[in-house]
Amino acid sequence: MAGDAPYGLIEEAAIAVTPDGILWTGAEADIPAAVAHYPRHDLGGRLVTPALIDCHTHLVHGGNRANEFEMRLMGASYEEVAKAGGGIISTVRATREASEEDLIAAALPRIDTLIAEGVSTVEIKSGYGLDIDTELKMLRAARRLAALRPIEVHTTFLGAHAVPAEFKGRADAYLDEVCIPALKAAHEEELVDAVDGFSEGIAFTPAQIARVFDAAKSLGLPVKLHAEQLSNLGGAAMAASYGALSLDHLEYLDEPGVQAMASAGSVAVILPGAFYAIREKQVPPVGLFRKHNVPMAVATDLNPGSSPMNSLLLAMNMACTLFRMTPEEALAGTTRNAATALGLTDRGVIAPEHRADFAVWNAEHPAELSYRFGFNPLHQRIIGGWIDIP
Ligand code: NIG
Ligand code: FE
Repeated sequence: MAGDAPYGLIEEAAIAVTPDGILWTGAEADIPAAVAHYPRHDLGGRLVTPALIDCHTHLVHGGNRANEFEMRLMGASYEEVAKAGGGIISTVRATREASEEDLIAAALPRIDTLIAEGVSTVEIKSGYGLDIDTELKMLRAARRLAALRPIEVHTTFLGAHAVPAEFKGRADAYLDEVCIPALKAAHEEELVDAVDGFSEGIAFTPAQIARVFDAAKSLGLPVKLHAEQLSNLGGAAMAASYGALSLDHLEYLDEPGVQAMASAGSVAVILPGAFYAIREKQVPPVGLFRKHNVPMAVATDLNPGSSPMNSLLLAMNMACTLFRMTPEEALAGTTRNAATALGLTDRGVIAPEHRADFAVWNAEHPAELSYRFGFNPLHQRIIGGWIDIP
């Protein structure tokens, strides 16, 4: 997965690795003398890709929202459920009630399911606390997951996810009294790798999010945003003006918004699980992302409301089937571009000076990863040059 052919595919390839990373990759016939004596591990002619990266999840949370799934099937929309006190706010109740241990216990099977699909790096957001203690509790739980499992966790502070019931109608007061102080406290504890928000009619205006981004900037933290998911409020262009790492969802984004992202170098994170689960009809502007060279990532958005989807391979399939992304774009979306969406330059491609994190697949061609659904072809993960799932 490093040459000039489609997918960068190299047939009959070899990769020379040390625990520090990749030294060389190319055709087996061209192995350089300097590494020819290395012990060899035969992968049986299998497909090797970079280990996958899920760059947008809410996998730490309390409870579930199967009842809202039933309500939506009876005709209620995602926004109607939210306005009736359900939605994000109902997960906030369950997350506040859960202990840090409870959150970890509930998250472990979710993270294990991702690991079993070859994921080596996962992003996890807060945003179901909406009070200082619970936001910190979620982020601490997310950090602890990385100590319990062979996976790297990148944490994102999402205090501006929704206005909690106790601040109903007082969004700005919530930002000043809870969200921004929680961000500062979390940063103080080194719990934050990036800052996110939800710019939407049922959440915050772009101007309100900009205040949170100003706080992020003063702490030296990168930003990203849930934007134009249900309507076009101009959140993406606003976030791009802050050099956002990524803009996520984007079904209602227009061409000026795409151009703003292109100028800022922001990644478009495509989240087909949420599109599917809320039965959205408007597809994200994939053609415009291509036209303006905006890199596209693909993620699960794993969360209890709009995307209870625990499979990154399924997200790849859906990105192709629902949005007509190509399987090559879908794979770049869960490797190279997902790394960029997290601000990471040391992974997501098989090339020298990158981490030796690979997924080895029972597959002959990379299109197979997006083509099947409900089937997991992972043979093994190799992390830091070592096999960790035999
Ligand atoms: O990414 N868009 C906002 N936030 C989450 C969903 C949160 C929820 O419904 O619990 C998302 O879709
Ligand atoms: Fe999300």
